[in-house]
Formats: sequence, C-alpha cells, structure tokens
Amino acid sequence: MKKTPPDINLNKKSERREFLKTAWKILGLVAATELVFLTFNLLRPGKDQKKSKTAANLKIIGNVEDFLPGSVTPDRVNKVYMVRQKDGGFLALSLICSHLGCSVLWNEEKKQFICPCHSSAFDRLGNVINSPAPRALDYYPVTIEGGKVKIDTGQKIKRKKFDKNQVTYAI
Ligand code: FES
Repeated sequence: MKKTPPDINLNKKSERREFLKTAWKILGLVAATELVFLTFNLLRPGKDQKKSKTAANLKIIGNVEDFLPGSVTPDRVNKVYMVRQKDGGFLALSLICSHLGCSVLWNEEKKQFICPCHSSAFDRLGNVINSPAPRALDYYPVTIEGGKVKIDTGQKIKRKKFDKNQVTYAI
C-alpha cells in the first residue's frame, strides 16, 4: 500500500479544521440571530396587547341621552368637554388650551371656551376666536355603542380647525 506523504495529511487536517471553524461560526451566528429575534418578539407588544391597550383607553363618559343636543358637558376626570351638536352629533374636545396647556373654561353666556391664563378663546367647536392659541382645541375620537358614549383617551388628535368629520353620530 502506498503511503501518503505527511505534508498532504497535514494539509487535509488543517483544511478540515478550517471547515469546522467556519461551520461553527455560521452556526453561532444563526443561533445569535435567532436569540435576538426571539428577544425582540418577546419584548415587543403584540397585537393582543395593543388591542387591550386601546380597549383600556376607551372610557364610557355617559349615555347618549345624558347629553342634550346643543349642550356642552365637562368631564374633569377625562379632561374633555363633550359638545353635543344641535343635529345630535358628538364632539369630544380636550379642555387643555393649545397655547401652553392651561384648562379652558366653558362660558355659557358667551358660548365660548376661555383660557384663564392668556385669554385665548375658542368657539363651541374648538376653533380659535382669540389668540395667542395657535390652533383649535384637540379632540378625541368618539364611539357610540349600545347607547353608551365612549371616548378614546389614548388618541388626542391635534387639528388646525373644526371639520365635520370630527363629529360622531349615533346610528
Ligand atoms: S395657556 Fe391658554 S392662552 Fe396661554
């Protein structure tokens, strides 16, 4: 039997060692990537968590019949004014002034929201009548289900001015 020279044996061994080293590196990289992916998925809020967060932010603020058409009702707990339109629509306005964040007060006589800090005034739809407020009062999406009026306190929406799409109607 013919013997292989020692140099060739050494070369084959070192090639095998290099191959194994590379294979281990690739396996390590795959394992590390999977670990990062799993950790990310574990820490990221899932769809269910997002849904429950939204559900947690939906606050019932009363029954439809609690808000008379044309009325403005404060809800100090949720920091909103529920403005019921004469045609029955609901508009939930933030009571936080869009200037520097003081609480605006509804003046029934003037039919205006007035800020006690720097005298900004807003009409009953939240539009600016008197500066320095730079934009209309923010509003919250309203949902009406089973005769209950709910607002999504997790979604305070900024706006330049009133638009009829901001009003919700009971179906
Ligand atoms: S905070 Fe309301 S006008 Fe300045």
